[in-house]
Amino acid sequence: MKRLLTTILILFCLASLTACGNNQSNNNTSSSETSVNADAQQSTTEAVSSADSDDKALTNDKTLISELPENTEGSGKNTIVIYFSATGTTKGVAERIADVTNADLFEIVPAEPYTSADLDWNDKNSRTTIEMNDQNARPEIADDTVSFDGYSTIYIGYPIWWGDAPRIMSTFVEAHDFDGLTVIPFCTSGGSGIGRSGSNLASLAGSGNWLDGDRLDAGISEEELGTWINGLN
Ligand SMILES: Cc1cc2nc3c(=O)[nH]c(=O)nc-3n(C[C@H](O)[C@H](O)[C@H](O)COP(=O)(O)O)c2cc1C
Repeated sequence: MKRLLTTILILFCLASLTACGNNQSNNNTSSSETSVNADAQQSTTEAVSSADSDDKALTNDKTLISELPENTEGSGKNTIVIYFSATGTTKGVAERIADVTNADLFEIVPAEPYTSADLDWNDKNSRTTIEMNDQNARPEIADDTVSFDGYSTIYIGYPIWWGDAPRIMSTFVEAHDFDGLTVIPFCTSGGSGIGRSGSNLASLAGSGNWLDGDRLDAGISEEELGTWINGLN
């Protein structure tokens, strides 16, 4: 009997010890889970907080963009007046057209400026005489950086040389795409009309809706320009 009681006591102690061990191990698991969860929570918090700060950065970027003035890439104007002028007459008219139409201005500047000797039409060997006698002459433009993006109407002006547009205008129109644009040629001269100069340029350009255009007086007023512009079609 004493032996039986001793055996039962030993078994009870063993059972208690096993139960203690299991609890310990459960506690360990639970503490390591807590630790993993805490790590995960911290990582998530960091990720969210980092995403949050990214969002703030984005928000700030958006704010910055919306604070920028509109049309920073262009003037926002839909008309541009482009001209070449050797002695300033066409320039003056071009500036008045730009005023009247609230347009941008772009001057076609020759890489090699025309001297008064170059402009001497009495000299058979002057630069202009030689250029105008050669349909294929293409004088270089100094800085042809103009882009037609955002424009719907282009006024294009030049002096008449030997009844036609100077060859530098051919250089210009061949270098640009006028697709989708209304192009209005205008010229100044000693008396000759615009003749076929505008339609010649239209052929060389090969794109754009070119109107007939007109010769304009050097001293044309803004009021007269307004009347001319309103009559264009
Ligand atoms: C080489 C040359 C040829 C010219 N040919 C003509 C012409 O055929 N008919 C005409 O009326 N004027 C002619 N002119 C005069 C110019 O067309 C006129 O002075 C023009 O308004 C000048 O414009 P700009 O000052 O913008 O260069 C010619 C001028 C030059 C320099």
